[in-house]
Amino acid sequence: MKIAIINGPNLNLLGKRETAIYGQHSFDDYLVGLKQRYPQVELHYFQTNVEGELVNELHKVGFDYDGIVLNPAAYTHTSVAIGDAIKAIKAPVVEVHISNVHAREDFRKLSHVSASAAGTITGLGLKGYELAILWLLEQQA
Ligand code: DQA
Repeated sequence: MKIAIINGPNLNLLGKRETAIYGQHSFDDYLVGLKQRYPQVELHYFQTNVEGELVNELHKVGFDYDGIVLNPAAYTHTSVAIGDAIKAIKAPVVEVHISNVHAREDFRKLSHVSASAAGTITGLGLKGYELAILWLLEQQA
């Protein structure tokens, strides 16, 4: 089972960035635990601050991975290109947000991703990534 986790802009600063909202843990530390808990999953991780690179990565993994866990971060709210890329690929995409985007500024309530995603997890912290993986695993069972 091959799952790609794709993180968008500023998520390389998790653990340092607005810790009251996004928590104290870096994604790299969290990923170590995830890989230990799911040794049966081939977990591929990609992070970029560049919109087009997110589109390229979706194209790259979207035809031979079993699932994608995607946090497009701020591009969620602006990127028609990412929404179109999700429509173009075959792998199911679970949209994850660490914070509850619906409890924040109004501009975060718009997602160009949700309509094309299999589902969305928002506000459950880093645990949302693991819940997305569990759901993708169930689809294969
Ligand atoms: C985020 C929410 C977005 O609104 C924000 O721009 C982010 C992170 C989240 O994980 O809560 O950078 O996607």
